[in-house]
Amino acid sequence: MDWADGLFTLRIDARGVQPYDPGQFLHLAIQQPDGHVINRPYSVASPYGDEIEFFIVEVADGKLTPQFRHVNVGDEILVSENAAGSFTLAKTPSAKCIWLIATGTGIAPYIAMLRDKEIWQRYQKIVLVHGTRYVRDLGYREELCALRESRADQFTYLPAITREEHKCALNGRLTTLLQDRSLEKAAKCEIAHDTTAIMLCGNPDMLNEMEQQLIDRNLKKHRSKAPGNIVAERYW
Ligand SMILES: Cc1cc2nc3c(=O)[nH]c(=O)nc-3n(C[C@H](O)[C@H](O)[C@H](O)COP(=O)(O)OP(=O)(O)OC[C@H]3O[C@@H](n4cnc5c(N)ncnc54)[C@H](O)[C@@H]3O)c2cc1C
Ligand SMILES: NC(=O)c1ccc[n+]([C@@H]2O[C@H](COP(=O)([O-])OP(=O)(O)OC[C@H]3O[C@@H](n4cnc5c(N)ncnc54)[C@H](OP(=O)(O)O)[C@@H]3O)[C@@H](O)[C@H]2O)c1
Repeated sequence: MDWADGLFTLRIDARGVQPYDPGQFLHLAIQQPDGHVINRPYSVASPYGDEIEFFIVEVADGKLTPQFRHVNVGDEILVSENAAGSFTLAKTPSAKCIWLIATGTGIAPYIAMLRDKEIWQRYQKIVLVHGTRYVRDLGYREELCALRESRADQFTYLPAITREEHKCALNGRLTTLLQDRSLEKAAKCEIAHDTTAIMLCGNPDMLNEMEQQLIDRNLKKHRSKAPGNIVAERYW
């Protein structure tokens, strides 16, 4: 399914893939005409099941992603048997409130988590923040708006766009919206070291800048031996 030119959801038959946790990634690969294989990691956007879903953007001049454009229904894509990665709820601290913050396709692991039951049982409040360039890049928007309606007491969805103005979203980079407290105002939920877990996923510059702001506000990176607030997945 295409969300915008070069931004799409890929669904593959998952038989042969071992069970995984929402937030983990698999490697996808395409064999080249000369026989060598190009593979890259992709977060899974669906909980374990018969079909596996990925949310992918075509990177200009990328080696693998432009090739997905030519994939047709029924074509073979190589997929790793075992998922990897620790960007999962098991490795995220318990807290009253969890913030799921993403740019671009970094929303994929959160879609898998929101479609599963654990997150709803563990956190009283869930705030999903998705930053993209344009409204058309806000993949899964209808599903998330429906969830916002059906779980209004527990779930807040905050889309934010940077390269056009639109009433349906906040305007500006997530770093700016955190700095000026617009995110917390919109979510009616304060970010504080003793109440909040934060997951960050996507653009590494966004992650670095967000992490620094949060550390300046007394939140800490979470490690199993030194519990804190922040866990992160860098896409490049
Ligand atoms: C754990 C993990 C999970 C990932 N999950 C996803 C996912 O769910 N969906 C997804 O689309 N991508 C995801 N990625 C990125 C993906 O693995 C590839 O890096 C990306 O698809 C580019 O591959 P490519 O071969 O087309 O480009 P390459 O030829 O590998 O790279 C071209 C350049 O683009 C940079 N780059 C990579 N990704 C992006 C991007 N999104 N925007 C801008 N520049 C980029 C790289 O640093 C590189 O310098 C994930 C990466 C990691 C590490
Ligand atoms: N529809 C698509 O999304 C699409 C389609 C085809 C190809 N592509 C290609 O895919 C690649 C990735 O594009 P993308 O739009 O998914 O990802 P992106 O460039 O990471 O941008 C996603 C969002 O993150 C913001 N951002 C970037 N750096 C930030 C920082 N340091 N702090 C806070 N926010 C930051 C961007 O704001 P700014 O706008 O201010 O940068 C944008 O709102 C690019 O090569 C692009 O050309 C994208």
